[in-house]
Amino acid sequence: MEVVIAPGPELARIAADAIEKLLRVRPQAVLGLATGSSPLAVYDELARRHESDGLSFAQASAFMLDEYVGLPAQHPERYRNVIETEIASRVDFAPGAVHGPDGLADDLVAACAAYERAIADAGGVDLQLLGIGTDGHVAFNEPGSSLASRTRIKTLTRQTREDNARFFGGDVDQVPTHCLTQGLATIMSARHLVLLAQGRGKAEAVHQLVEGPVSAMWPGTVLQHHPHVTVLVDDAAASRL
Ligand code: GLP
Repeated sequence: MEVVIAPGPELARIAADAIEKLLRVRPQAVLGLATGSSPLAVYDELARRHESDGLSFAQASAFMLDEYVGLPAQHPERYRNVIETEIASRVDFAPGAVHGPDGLADDLVAACAAYERAIADAGGVDLQLLGIGTDGHVAFNEPGSSLASRTRIKTLTRQTREDNARFFGGDVDQVPTHCLTQGLATIMSARHLVLLAQGRGKAEAVHQLVEGPVSAMWPGTVLQHHPHVTVLVDDAAASRL
């Protein structure tokens, strides 16, 4: 595990550099996209490089980490729409190249299995961007998630719903109660994991991620078993290391 402590804008550039390097060598790369505020500066940087340096995503594809269950198709906080707004529409992905779990499927269990198959059929994810929740969740793998889990339906914890209420006008009751999420084993199958965390609120999660014992109670700790992880943190998030 490589840990880089640097100011936020520098972290975004390092993550964008890793993605750019991959795309220049392998234009048909499979990217793993994350939601949340942590990767937003990376998406800004990628959009800028697309605009000014001709960085192209035309042959690439992407898989999202997770999705809320039941948010209406046009809801701005539906993760598919968030990813569309924050990155997909700002670069040149081919139509249909960005995939996400279907939180509106009639059969959610089948949708999860289909999503796992789609990732495998694409040859697996080359580079997965990740954030981490204050309680150590990765994607929506909340504390107690099996370290061997695959894409499945999960119940969101009160903590995560409160953390994410800021995207729903501050009203926790508007935050869905369930989600579909790649499992920890799904995420561990990606070839390079790039995790971003900023701010003091993430300090304990980052401490556990890097220095804690591997435990389902801090789901991010499973990353310690991955051969190629880059952890990008600012001073505040690194303050307990
Ligand atoms: C959500 C997402 C996670 C993300 C986490 C942290 O719960 N499902 O993928 O890592 O939030 O979000 P933020 O980056 O906004 O702190």
